[in-house]
Amino acid sequence: MDQNELKKAAGIRSVDFIKDGMTVGLGTGSTVFFMVEELGRRVQEEGLNVQCVTTSDRTWDQAVNLGIKMLDVNDVDHIDITIDGADEIDDNYQGIKGGGAAHLKEKIVALNSKQVVWIVDQSKIVHTLGKFPLPTEVIPFGSQKTFDLLEKEGLSPKFRTDDQGELVKTDSNNLVIDLYLNEIKHPHLLAKYLDGITGIVEHGLFLDMVNTVVIGNEQAPKVIENIR
Ligand code: A5P
Repeated sequence: MDQNELKKAAGIRSVDFIKDGMTVGLGTGSTVFFMVEELGRRVQEEGLNVQCVTTSDRTWDQAVNLGIKMLDVNDVDHIDITIDGADEIDDNYQGIKGGGAAHLKEKIVALNSKQVVWIVDQSKIVHTLGKFPLPTEVIPFGSQKTFDLLEKEGLSPKFRTDDQGELVKTDSNNLVIDLYLNEIKHPHLLAKYLDGITGIVEHGLFLDMVNTVVIGNEQAPKVIENIR
């Protein structure tokens, strides 16, 4: 199976966690794409009754096109479950997210969810976080100063650019600085440090947040529940 098939299998499996009447947070990314397609199918073909909030404009558009009822996150009083992708998950189920530059909204939605499910293919499972560059979302004002500070701290920052070499802008019109760390030995300490930097709106360390992980592998997707 190629990586896309593994993502698809994990995405489809995760929809089993969504029950009638739930308010659901929809994540962002290529794995979530398959989950949203399957959710749309169940809404259309099986009459599954759910309302959803989004973590990105992309997912919002996809869900609306599939006839899924979408609401502004400010207009729901709770979120039962959020299903999202991840870029890395370590031995302690800590994660890096933001490869698709959506980690700010993803973290807001996750922190307001009763249950968080991550869906990944097996390549995302690592012992130690950090091979995947750690995304930070920074406000454009003074972003070079924020960059300089991160560089001075030895965090190997790089502004994220697209294929045309243009700076990537998030849905909130911010910029992305990725930190090329290779290995994050103390994720909580790093998260605390980054939380304290004025100019960084949010970083991609998602710590102590996930309850369930669904991993697409060569067999049926592996489901790990009750993580916390
Ligand atoms: C979006 O910013 C990310 O957090 C994604 O959830 C993450 O990058 C996983 O994406 P894929 O499912 O496309 O690998």
